[in-house]
Amino acid sequence: MSFAIETRDLNYSYTKDRRSVNNLSLQVPTGSIYGFLGPNGAGKTTTIRLLTGMLLSDKDNVFIQGKSLQRNLPQIFNSMGTLIEMPSLYLHLTGKENLRLIATMRGIHRNRIDDALQTAGLAGAANKKTKQYSLGMKQRLGIAMAMLSDPELLILDEPANGLDPTGIIEVRQLLVKLNKEQGKTIFVSSHLLGEVEKTCTHIGIIHHGIMRYNGTLEQMKASAYDAADVILKVQEAEHWLPQITSQYPLAKVQGRDEITLPATSREEVTHINQQLVRMNIPVAGIQLRGGLEEWFMHIIDQEKDKQIL
Ligand SMILES: Nc1ncnc2c1ncn2[C@@H]1O[C@H](COP(=O)(O)OP(=O)(O)O)[C@@H](O)[C@H]1O
Ligand SMILES: [Mg+2]
Repeated sequence: MSFAIETRDLNYSYTKDRRSVNNLSLQVPTGSIYGFLGPNGAGKTTTIRLLTGMLLSDKDNVFIQGKSLQRNLPQIFNSMGTLIEMPSLYLHLTGKENLRLIATMRGIHRNRIDDALQTAGLAGAANKKTKQYSLGMKQRLGIAMAMLSDPELLILDEPANGLDPTGIIEVRQLLVKLNKEQGKTIFVSSHLLGEVEKTCTHIGIIHHGIMRYNGTLEQMKASAYDAADVILKVQEAEHWLPQITSQYPLAKVQGRDEITLPATSREEVTHINQQLVRMNIPVAGIQLRGGLEEWFMHIIDQEKDKQIL
């Protein structure tokens, strides 16, 4: 497998007493949407500054498309488009004029501008002043700026942060489109599990500068649901258990009115519900205990004390 980004034991300290990025090794497969997930202060932005050359590691341990970042400065910047938090826009200029400025500064041919506007869904608003843009439109213009040189890799730091629900959906759809239709590899950070879960194919979880989890979306969901249970509220649980175990052999009575069975996914809850109705079992309630959110909280809570240095 080839990696669009790879780091090997990456470290960074702003101050002597603390590492903000701690022995961080990550691999972003080419063609993936990689969600870099972690709570505020986890070290996401610091990592992204190291990946984009805004901060330099003291070792040669960042590789972009297999090439050392340090040994290929500054040409390596041509292979990536970046957006760190909000784009800086000239609000009195139109979207197209903002892109034209960037193109001129970076020596990019002007014929890329219309393509970028089109892809970002801003062709219709190209000649509007950006002060009239919604936050979602401004953010999409920022992504258009990052794509101007048509790089294979996009690195975006919390692009959905601060947007309203419509803006969040617009950005999410744009990322999926860039990945599916243009084959871009996208590294995107977020502090929201729900966001990452909806968009990404691969997930890395960082906490206190330490990589806590790395895997595909499916692997993450499977690890999370391994520990989850479906709880059925059924009066006279003992009475109904034999019928339930005929379908779900691992079902157990938990209390007078409660039966539990292992879950494998959120979708399964709906399926079990339908099945029980079909069997005429009087279920008063059904819920999932555990699952993705609880697993995530567990991941970012543990090893608090491992904050080294
Ligand atoms: N310029 C800076 N100077 C000193 N400490 C910083 C600086 N930027 C970030 N930090 C610290 O580094 C840690 C990681 O921050 P950051 O990478 O911004 O996290 P995230 O982007 O995940 O919210 C935090 O503890 C933060 O306070
Ligand atoms: Mg940040």
